[in-house]
Amino acid sequence: MKVIVLADYEAVSKEAARLVEEKVSENDQLVLGLATGSTPLGLYENLIDGYKTRGISYQNVKTINLDEYLGLEKDHPESYHTFMVEKLFKHIDIARENTFIPDGQPSSIEAECARYEKVMNRVGPINLQILGIGSNGHIGFNEPGTDPESETHVVELNDSTRKDNAQFFNSIEEVPTHAITLGIQNILKSDKIILLASGKKKAEAIKILLEKNVSASFPASYLWNHPNVTVIVDEDAYQLVRQKQ
Ligand code: PGA
Repeated sequence: MKVIVLADYEAVSKEAARLVEEKVSENDQLVLGLATGSTPLGLYENLIDGYKTRGISYQNVKTINLDEYLGLEKDHPESYHTFMVEKLFKHIDIARENTFIPDGQPSSIEAECARYEKVMNRVGPINLQILGIGSNGHIGFNEPGTDPESETHVVELNDSTRKDNAQFFNSIEEVPTHAITLGIQNILKSDKIILLASGKKKAEAIKILLEKNVSASFPASYLWNHPNVTVIVDEDAYQLVRQKQ
């Protein structure tokens, strides 16, 4: 695991965008694994800028998103479908049929997990997976206790995750209780993984991650089992590791 510590969120976002653009330049048919949440917003802004001002094209790129809330219709303002369209897809030249996100309102949850697993097998492997990290160590919506062998599955969201995400809803009651997420196995099959973290609210999670204890109680620690992971953090997220140095 390579760790890059940069001054602030802006620098983290720029470096992540540079790495993504480098991969897209090497392979215009890249399969990108994408994340939602506040962390990748700066990355997406930089990618939009790269498309508009430097001609980086996504015409043949495919994207596979990590997760989606269960129970939200696609055009709900807080669905991850809406997030991806508003924050990235509508601003670049990606073909919408090349973008994949779990369906949050499937008629059968089991069938939807199986369908998404097939998408992974047909479109994947993911060449470059972008991850954030939950304050409880989740990656995607793989909450503490997740089986390291897991594939696409339904999860019950932890209270801490629902609290963290309540800022985007009118109240915590509106935050969905369940989600569909790629599993740990799906994530670890990616060729390369970039995990981004910013701000002191992630400092504890980064400290635990870098302690290198691989454990189901902290799912991001499974990334130690992958040969090509780069963690890009800002000084605020790294502060507890610095204190120990
Ligand atoms: P955040 O979420 O980017 O909104 O902090 C990260 C995550 O839960 O993976």
